[in-house]
Amino acid sequence: METLLQEKETSTADFLPLNGTDHIEFYVGNAKQSAYYYQSAWGYELIAYSGPETGVRDRASYVLQQGKVRLVLSTALSPDHEISQHHLLHGDGVKVLALWVDDARRSFEETTRRGAVPALEPTVLKDEFGEVVVSGIKTYGDTIHKFVERKNYRGPFMPGYKPVKSSVPVKPVGIKHVDHCVGNVELGKMNEWVEFYEKVMGFRLMLTFDDKDISTEYSALMSKVVANGNGYIKFPINEPAEGRRKSQIEEYLEFYRGPGCQHIALATDDIIYTVSELRARGVEFLYVPDNYYEDVWKRVGAIKEDMEQIRRLNILVDRDDEGYLLQLFTKPVEDRPTLFYEIIQRCGAKSFGKGNFKALFEAIEREQALRGNL
Ligand code: FE2
Repeated sequence: METLLQEKETSTADFLPLNGTDHIEFYVGNAKQSAYYYQSAWGYELIAYSGPETGVRDRASYVLQQGKVRLVLSTALSPDHEISQHHLLHGDGVKVLALWVDDARRSFEETTRRGAVPALEPTVLKDEFGEVVVSGIKTYGDTIHKFVERKNYRGPFMPGYKPVKSSVPVKPVGIKHVDHCVGNVELGKMNEWVEFYEKVMGFRLMLTFDDKDISTEYSALMSKVVANGNGYIKFPINEPAEGRRKSQIEEYLEFYRGPGCQHIALATDDIIYTVSELRARGVEFLYVPDNYYEDVWKRVGAIKEDMEQIRRLNILVDRDDEGYLLQLFTKPVEDRPTLFYEIIQRCGAKSFGKGNFKALFEAIEREQALRGNL
């Protein structure tokens, strides 16, 4: 059963204050072409580039921005490079969930002292725009968290990157910020990672879903949501649960070859506009049958958006004690059934759309069956 946990009263100061998501870095097979996709389909602006032309000999990285969301797409230029090895194993995927901090050295010290495995010792990067301090620790699978301190930096992204502009027309779709990033981990590992975020990073457990909340005729999963002190960073962690057939989490773990980032939820203030634009540009979303809308308005009550448009765009609706939310999920954005996106508009609601889980997971399973993986 879903349990919304009371925020614990605590007098201890947050040892890992986070200002928000700094950026998300993907290791991909062809960053040049991925950058085109995120510009033309998703409306991100290209703002910075690093590669041979900027003196970086082993890789090319494109930095894209929309609202407060910054994506970095990186490809290596040789087969034995760490990025190539990562790509060989995992396909295109998230390598870095970077967090914006005021003190990257202290973030590294506080977390490694509590047991985090170092991924990057604190490093000072400098150029004509100032300096950035970065450090990093490991999280699930081959994924890492970087801590980025940029209070003494005025450049477009980081030292080593030159400012560039999109050379294709870019029309933003209304993406504002990262709402949450979800990790898939192996059976039996969810609580270990929840404990990691609690003990090592000072997060608190916010929500728990068990297999009664998240099950269909065929498969089930368990999920717990951890959030940092100010609530800006939310990381749900999923693990598969016993079911009659292979769960979507098992399919992910099989094709990603281990734990990793399952989906990134992007917040918008106008989901009707965002989803209309993305659909028009060829972004594929999960399909929820029309009968979903037969009883949805009874379940969630009145909303201020046009109900007919919500139905036509196949957007999902849910309500909790504090308000409602509108959400929709893309199909995986790679050929492997791994990472996908969620578009979410929160109208007061702080939850994750529990009322949609059944319809959503049945939709995912229809896709799994088409792939021969159910
Ligand atoms: Fe989500």
